[in-house]
Amino acid sequence: MSYRVCFEGHDAEAVVEHGESVLEAAVRAGLAVDYGCSGGNCGLCVARLLDGEVRQISDWDYVFERGQRDGRHFLMCSHTAAADLRLEANIAGGAGQIPLQRFRARVKHIGEAAPDIAVLRLRVSRSHRLRFLAGQEAGLSHPRCGDARLPIASCPCDASELEFHLRARGGAQDDPFAACVAQECRSGDWFDVEAPHGSFVFTGNMERPVVLLAWDTHFAFARSLLEHIVALESDLPIHLYRSGIGEPPYYLDNLCCAWRDALDQMNFTTLPPTGAGGGDAADLWAERIAADTDLAGSDCYLCLPPPQAQRAAQALEQRGARPGRIFRAHP
Ligand code: FES
Repeated sequence: MSYRVCFEGHDAEAVVEHGESVLEAAVRAGLAVDYGCSGGNCGLCVARLLDGEVRQISDWDYVFERGQRDGRHFLMCSHTAAADLRLEANIAGGAGQIPLQRFRARVKHIGEAAPDIAVLRLRVSRSHRLRFLAGQEAGLSHPRCGDARLPIASCPCDASELEFHLRARGGAQDDPFAACVAQECRSGDWFDVEAPHGSFVFTGNMERPVVLLAWDTHFAFARSLLEHIVALESDLPIHLYRSGIGEPPYYLDNLCCAWRDALDQMNFTTLPPTGAGGGDAADLWAERIAADTDLAGSDCYLCLPPPQAQRAAQALEQRGARPGRIFRAHP
């Protein structure tokens, strides 16, 4: 049995599935609800029940403040819905309103998605679950490898693990951070994390078909956004286009094929490769996309480095995409 949750004062809804916490449902729905530990300690996820009934599913240590001891306040991470709910809760108005969080995270795994692409997975402690939206980035700092800002490739619905993609070899310029992480980092190492950054997130009620154009490791943005759509069980039409360096298939191609096979509304097209710097493939990409997409009726999300994103946006506009409906990972 699932129940609908409406958040009073926000145009926001979530569906709580059987056994799921209200918080998990809200995060899965892409809502920037306030929370911290997901484990009943911090009290940040406290909400006030206006209508409906909730049921406790886990214990908590948080001590409610005097004004919250009225039988209507509850922790969203420790309760599920026992009826349709109407709640008052803190929800950030946009990506920029989510507070910057700083914590340390341990390397869970570092492996290869292709001979030149490393995938870094950091395990986040239970007390520092990262609050972020799909499409945002994190600043990483490692004592030997230095600092970098990278897109978070994982879904906010799995706050226990953060995934990052690094081009360890063969990029436009040598990337000492990526090379160092690929060669020197081991499971158990620590990174200092500062996140979330950026505002490349889905906007509004997501009612228009989505075009995602991703190049090389900027695919990490697309992965997070797509994982989010999968978690939402949305039937929004999505077309993912991928280009990269070197001959296709590009890294994690099997994941893209699995999404296409699992989701009726998803298409996936592999575009020709470019040079290491990205090349000037914008017109070629836009022509290909315009051939099978109603660009005027779609939202275009460009997971590209800045110069390419600018050229691709212009090329898509020339073929009918609406300027206000083109979103760039790097404005
Ligand atoms: S008490 Fe910390 S998120 Fe619920």
